[in-house]
Amino acid sequence: MADITMAILADHEWFREQFAKLDELQAQTPVNRGALERVWRPLADKLDVHAYIEEKIFYPQLLTRGTDDPEGETLDAIGDHNDIRDGVRDANAAGVGTEQWWAAVGRTRVANDDHMGEEEREGLSDFRRNAPIGLREALGQQYSEFMRQHPTTKGLTITDRDPQRYVEEFEATPRSKPDDFSLRIGSLKGQ
Ligand SMILES: [Fe+2]
Ligand SMILES: [Fe+2]
Repeated sequence: MADITMAILADHEWFREQFAKLDELQAQTPVNRGALERVWRPLADKLDVHAYIEEKIFYPQLLTRGTDDPEGETLDAIGDHNDIRDGVRDANAAGVGTEQWWAAVGRTRVANDDHMGEEEREGLSDFRRNAPIGLREALGQQYSEFMRQHPTTKGLTITDRDPQRYVEEFEATPRSKPDDFSLRIGSLKGQ
């Protein structure tokens, strides 16, 4: 069973590979719009779904279990997710292969690369060192199931979130006792 920190890491690697594929296509003339679309569409959707589910199940648990600076790590992450969402939205609004599209894809890549490095070094590392393996595996299963059920953003509300409010809402949410993590992640069904 996959630990959520490793499942997230694997998807980060997949993101890097897709941007590398876009490099190959950018070097081609004439521009192959269909090929760009076939790489970009699933990449754009997965970036959004990945941030969505991290915000749903990973960051609340990091806030509960992390010991480094989970609040700071979460505030940074939500802000970064907003930058990634903005880039994806701008690219989706531009014609594939146009100058504006490449510029928006470039901004998405920069925001995502910066974010992944930080998330891997901070939140994921903190969680791996401080959350029990049973919890990490249970969350990994939730994560994988969600990603399987949502190959696109269809049915999900993808929207920027105020980082401060995200943390405040978490703090205001009543939580089950520390070792009883099954209740909280069980409630994800149907979302
Ligand atoms: Fe991530
Ligand atoms: Fe993230």
